Amino acid sequence: MIILGVHCGFTLFNHEPGAAVSINGKIVSSCEEERYTRNKEAWGKLPIYSVKASLKLAKIKVNQVDLVVSTGVTSKNLKSKLKKFFLENFNYCPKIKLVNHQLAHVACAFYSSGFKKATAISLDGFGDKKSGLISEVSIEKGIKKLKFISKKNSIGNFYTMITEFLGYKTGDEYKVMGLAAYGRNKVDFSKVIKFDSKYWKFKGGFYSDRQSPYLNTYSEKFEKLFKKYKRKPNQKINQLHKDFAASAQKVLTESLIRIFKYAKSISNLKSKICFAGGVALNCSAIKELVYDRIFKEIYIPPNPSDRGLPVGCAYLGSLFFKDIPKKLQTPFLGSFYSDGLIKKELLNNNCNFKKISNPSKVAADYLSKGKIVGWYQGRSESGARALGNRSILANPRIKNMKKILNAKIKYREEFRPFAPAVLKEEAEKYFKTLGHQVPYMNCTVMANNSYAKKIPAAVHIDNTSRVQTVSKKFNKKFYNLIKNLKMKTGVPVVINTSFNLKGQPIVETPRDALMTFFGSGIDVLIMGSYVVFKK
Ligand SMILES: [Fe+2]
Repeated sequence: MIILGVHCGFTLFNHEPGAAVSINGKIVSSCEEERYTRNKEAWGKLPIYSVKASLKLAKIKVNQVDLVVSTGVTSKNLKSKLKKFFLENFNYCPKIKLVNHQLAHVACAFYSSGFKKATAISLDGFGDKKSGLISEVSIEKGIKKLKFISKKNSIGNFYTMITEFLGYKTGDEYKVMGLAAYGRNKVDFSKVIKFDSKYWKFKGGFYSDRQSPYLNTYSEKFEKLFKKYKRKPNQKINQLHKDFAASAQKVLTESLIRIFKYAKSISNLKSKICFAGGVALNCSAIKELVYDRIFKEIYIPPNPSDRGLPVGCAYLGSLFFKDIPKKLQTPFLGSFYSDGLIKKELLNNNCNFKKISNPSKVAADYLSKGKIVGWYQGRSESGARALGNRSILANPRIKNMKKILNAKIKYREEFRPFAPAVLKEEAEKYFKTLGHQVPYMNCTVMANNSYAKKIPAAVHIDNTSRVQTVSKKFNKKFYNLIKNLKMKTGVPVVINTSFNLKGQPIVETPRDALMTFFGSGIDVLIMGSYVVFKK
């Protein structure tokens, strides 16, 4: 059966809208609205472009869809709003089914993993009035809900409060995580959160239920208690801010360890765990979970935040028709632009370009010479991370590369690290991955001291890296690029950062790539079978 999963921004509190299509249980497309509207996270937007793109990629028309599945089971009048949305934009409305937001996170995490059975857990800010769900899932028996986590006890909201208190905005949580490495665990949060025999409880009055995502989530009571740690946007970062971030990160890590242990205690499935929800983006905390081995195996999908909800919805819809949901084969589920389209765009913009027969080799040549390469190939990634199809690449052996990238390309906070992609078979040499494969870049690991010296630009101050392991099967062109780089430099590692400027979504179309290329210090752009020069 053909299922269209959607996540919509009918209110300003919904972000990361998008759409995904599954055919007989297999996810064939997953598209995010922000990529097409160029409005990061697309708060309060409806998935018009992403529905169109995901249907086009699946080669189906809207009237062939057997069922639309959406999150928002607790939202008022959502079915009629969705019906209006489809009729207005597509002149046709398939049957609609609403599902729970947390259930969609869990479905995305479990069914994309390929596991036969596992404990699955979601943790986020909130969705459908809850902030998490612990469940037991198997292909045979489906999803058994064990415990919902209340909105009052949202660990995601706690981290957002910290983010805003440090002068950033909702969605900037990863900046706090990067800053935490520079601080010490010195701030006492025991007046806000209390760990108990199960996991944690928040004390009332610190979280402010705001009327708009642009207002603060922390209350005056919170502000009074932590006054000296507060940072205004753009204020210079001091040690107090760093300590505040480090202490909050510690609380988050401790919370995750506790809830994983609690989940293990109430679930019959104690070997594997699948984890999704926005909190699963905190790759520093994930490192501790991986090293702690509470569960032998942890799987996090490439799109754990709300970006993955359409995939979860599509899986849940398949179950409804008794189709067996299939493992996610690839995260490259977004739009594709042919060489013909790329050439047309290059000609339209009077670009200086030439055709090449081996993009992976040409890119490696430039990288080995210290150039920064815009790398645009194939279908775009599902999820927040660039995984080798919409990436800015650089050579990690060059010591001041982090500074160059921050100054010339990303214009972002100096303290934030850059992530390395490494050949799968050489990962263990450079990083303590404990044999874990991390193709989706969702976990930091310790770098091995002797090898870390070879890639100074890709190791954070605390000697960690948010590493991506790349196999030939995962992404042949990207794998060959790193292999070619190794032949040139002896090191099978490349810095892989998303192809966008600070505050913007990842580039989607060839035109977006050109605008970012010419609007930044990227030296050369390799797009499909073409290399584009600035002069
Ligand atoms: Fe969520």
